[in-house]
Amino acid sequence: MQQITLTQPDDWHLHFRDNDMLLETVPATARTFKRAIVMPNLVPPVVNAELASAYRERILAARPQGSDFEPLMTLFLTNNTTVEDIRAAKKAGVVAAKLYPAGATTNSDAAVKGIEALFPVFAEMAEQGLLLLIHGEVTESHVDIFDREKLFIEKFLVKIVDQFPQLKVVFEHITTSDAVDFVNTSSQNVAATITPQHLLLNRNDLLVGGVRPHNFCLPVLKRSTHQQALRKAVATGSSKFFLGTDSAPHEKQAKESACGCAGCYSAWSALELYAQVFEELDALDKLEGFASHHGADFYGLPRNTKKITLVKDAWQVPESITLPNGELIVPFFAGQTVQWALK
Ligand code: NCD
Ligand code: ZN
Repeated sequence: MQQITLTQPDDWHLHFRDNDMLLETVPATARTFKRAIVMPNLVPPVVNAELASAYRERILAARPQGSDFEPLMTLFLTNNTTVEDIRAAKKAGVVAAKLYPAGATTNSDAAVKGIEALFPVFAEMAEQGLLLLIHGEVTESHVDIFDREKLFIEKFLVKIVDQFPQLKVVFEHITTSDAVDFVNTSSQNVAATITPQHLLLNRNDLLVGGVRPHNFCLPVLKRSTHQQALRKAVATGSSKFFLGTDSAPHEKQAKESACGCAGCYSAWSALELYAQVFEELDALDKLEGFASHHGADFYGLPRNTKKITLVKDAWQVPESITLPNGELIVPFFAGQTVQWALK
C-alpha cells in the first residue's frame, strides 16, 4: 500500500511543557493530532482547576493560526488532592487526573506516597466521570528498574481496579507483557496507551554499543520479549489499546548529561512511526482504530470527523531542533529514516 487515509487521530498522552516551549510543542502536535491529553507535571504541577484552566489558555495561545487543535486537560494527584478539587476540575472541563507514584519520573516529587489515602478521591472521580491515568511503576529504591511496572500491577493496580470497578483507568505507556496481560484480562473500564518508542525499540537500543540518552524514557525500555508482546497487542486491533506518544521534550544538554533526563520528543514523527510499526506487523488496517477510534471511545468523546492521509514517502528526522530560547532539542529518531509522511 502506498497511501492510507484515517480519521484524524488524537494523542492520549503527551507533555507540552510551558511558556516559550509551547511555541515548539503545540504546533508539532497540532500538525497531525486534533486533541491531546496534556500531562500536568509542570513545575509547580497542575493540581487544581484554576491552574488547569490557565495552562489550557497558554496552550491555546500557542496554536498555529487557524488551528482547531484542542488540549484536554488533566490534574496532577497529590496527597493533598480533595474531593472538592475533583468536582471543581470536572466543572472546568478537566477530563482526567494523573497518578504518579512519588519519584517515579520527571517532576513527580510532589506526587502520591500512600495510594490508599486517595481512595475517596478515586470514588469521586468515578462519580464525576473523570478518568484515572496511571504511571504504573513502584518507586521503592530496592526494586529493580526493569521490574517496577510488573510489581506496580501486583501491589496497587489490582487493588485499584478491584475497589473501583466503575472508574475508567488508563494504564499509561505500558512496557511489559505483564501489563498487556493485565489490561486484556481486566474489565472494559481498563485500557492502556502505548508509545512509539516502546513499539519500535527494546533495551538493546538503549545500551548496546554505547548509552543512547535520546532513547531513555520512563518506564525504561524493556527486553525484546516485552516489545514483542506490545506489538502483538496492537496488531490484534483490540480496542483496549490506543495511541499515546508520551512525547516529552528535554533540552539536548539535559539528556546528554552525566545524569540524563528521561523522555523522548516524538511529536514530529510519532504518527508516521506508528504507521511504520503497523506496516511491519502487516496490520495497517488496525492503525485507524488504535490512532483515531479507541481512545475517543474509551474517554466517551466523539470521534473526529476530518481525515488525514499518510503516504509511503521516506524522509529523515532532523538531527536537532532549535527552541525559541536558542537551546537545542534532539528529536526522537534523529537522523533516522521514517517510511511514512503526512500528505
Ligand atoms: C516524562 C517527562 O519527561 O515529563 N518522561 C518520560 O520519560 N516519559 C514523564 C513521564 O511521562 O513519565
Ligand atoms: Zn508521560
